[in-house]
Amino acid sequence: MSSSRFQLKVIVLGDSGVGKTSILNRFVKQEFSQSYRATVGADFLFKEFTVDGKAVSLQLWDTAGQERFQSLGNAFYRGTDCCLLVYDITNYESFENIVSWKKEFLERSGNENTNFPIILLGNKCDMSNERKISTIKAKEWADEEKLIYDEVSAKEDIHIDEAFIHVTRLCMGRE
Ligand code: GTP
Ligand code: MG
Repeated sequence: MSSSRFQLKVIVLGDSGVGKTSILNRFVKQEFSQSYRATVGADFLFKEFTVDGKAVSLQLWDTAGQERFQSLGNAFYRGTDCCLLVYDITNYESFENIVSWKKEFLERSGNENTNFPIILLGNKCDMSNERKISTIKAKEWADEEKLIYDEVSAKEDIHIDEAFIHVTRLCMGRE
């Protein structure tokens, strides 16, 4: 029954092409596509699953990384339970930009000066031969910024379910 489920709103932010849509499609539909189609505005997906014996309903908000496709008002950010920031381990700039995605999220959601739960995901870990940011460096930086860090691959389905289980536990811990 929906009333007995934890309902959580999760927003996914990060530069264009880092794989936000791919991570969600892998998690929700077990699908992956090599071809790129930019997200325009925002999309959302639902996923119901069970974590630690509890039924959970995740409302996943996918956003556009390309500036010209961003059209979200602050209302969009309100009521978010967890924020997922994504970069591409083969793209240094996408890592550097995380700090501004984080700032934008905290400002627009009204969560400045709070310990809001944010998870940082380094995607495309299947492409480790083209890696530009070491795991250690990313982890150290994430610790300083009080973000939880993990590396994932939407393509090879590495750590995708784990990341969302982590998101859910983090949110449930705050209830
Ligand atoms: P915007 O919608 O523009 O913000 O981009 P996005 O972050 O949603 O990126 P998207 O998921 O569309 O992926 C961009 C490209 O990266 C696509 O060609 C994907 O196939 C590819 N890609 C996504 N995840 C992975 C991954 O884990 N490994 C590899 N090798 N490629 C990936
Ligand atoms: Mg997208």
